[in-house]
Amino acid sequence: MKEHILVIEDDESFRRILTLMLENEGYLVTSVSNGHQAIKAAKGTFFELIIADVKLPGGMDGIEAVAKIKGIRPGTKSLVIIITGYADEQAPLRALRLGVDDYIYKPFEREQFLHSVERNLKIYRLEKEKEKHNEIIEKMNKELEDKVEQRTKDLKNLYEELQVTYLRTIKALAQAIDARDHYTHSHSKNVTKYAVMIAQQMKLSAKEIDEIKQACELHDLGKIGIHDYVLTKPGKLTSQEWKEVRLHSLKGAEILEPLTFLKGAIKLIQRHHERYDGKGYPYGLKGESIHLGARIMALADAFDAMISERPYREKPLTKQGAIKEIKKNSGTQFDPQVVQAFSKIVDKL
Ligand SMILES: [Fe+2]
Repeated sequence: MKEHILVIEDDESFRRILTLMLENEGYLVTSVSNGHQAIKAAKGTFFELIIADVKLPGGMDGIEAVAKIKGIRPGTKSLVIIITGYADEQAPLRALRLGVDDYIYKPFEREQFLHSVERNLKIYRLEKEKEKHNEIIEKMNKELEDKVEQRTKDLKNLYEELQVTYLRTIKALAQAIDARDHYTHSHSKNVTKYAVMIAQQMKLSAKEIDEIKQACELHDLGKIGIHDYVLTKPGKLTSQEWKEVRLHSLKGAEILEPLTFLKGAIKLIQRHHERYDGKGYPYGLKGESIHLGARIMALADAFDAMISERPYREKPLTKQGAIKEIKKNSGTQFDPQVVQAFSKIVDKL
């Protein structure tokens, strides 16, 4: 359907001619004879084009009327063609200021008039098309963004699921290593329990406690590379065998290295045999330079070893005996702060 045009013209016969010319071209036309009627009509209907005579009766000229109509629907654009006689010298400047689309002097030919209407409406239609396309493109972009967001979410979930599966597999492996001989059965589980309790007592953050938990569960994973006969050997180890055992903290960390989400825990696994006095392995780190989590693990690990059966001694220590031993080694093998926290939770074990 063609556009709706408002004609504002006080000369009745001229108004009728204009209306007929436009209707013959297929346009829908509303015609009024003054500015007040024009404003009233524009309040009820949106006109794509307003054709206004400058000189109008009723105290409001065509340019004023058009200015008021433009304010009725902000954000929309109506085309404006002003018609005037040569005598009105001020009109072109005022029309220009208002931003009209064309300006026609009376008298004019039918072709000239229709050409102006058609040319301006053609531009108008093209602009509308462009707006419509932009809206479609914007909508498509939004849909694409939503899709990308959803896919990213899906991938993230998948990645998290993979991490959990990975971790589960590796934990199962660590448990299998614990279960390889009856001496270390449940060792990692016990160490985890003690270390987490000490860490909670020391008021470590949830993230730090989580890292300690992961590290404890996997701390002896590197023992996978140690020969059975060394692990279960009764009596003293040779220096060569001892060398092999000492490699397990580094080996465990090496196995886990590709799992970047375990970065914090891997550091603790590497250092869980460091001693507070610097006589531990693999790096011989001392005091505070050993990560606190690793200092906690070292104590929990030693405590469980003391109270469990081991091939190299006849009987395990009693709980009280182990506590005494740990306190004796406070400041040398163990961090005194960790020993203190341990002594506060030991009754709950
Ligand atoms: Fe260990």
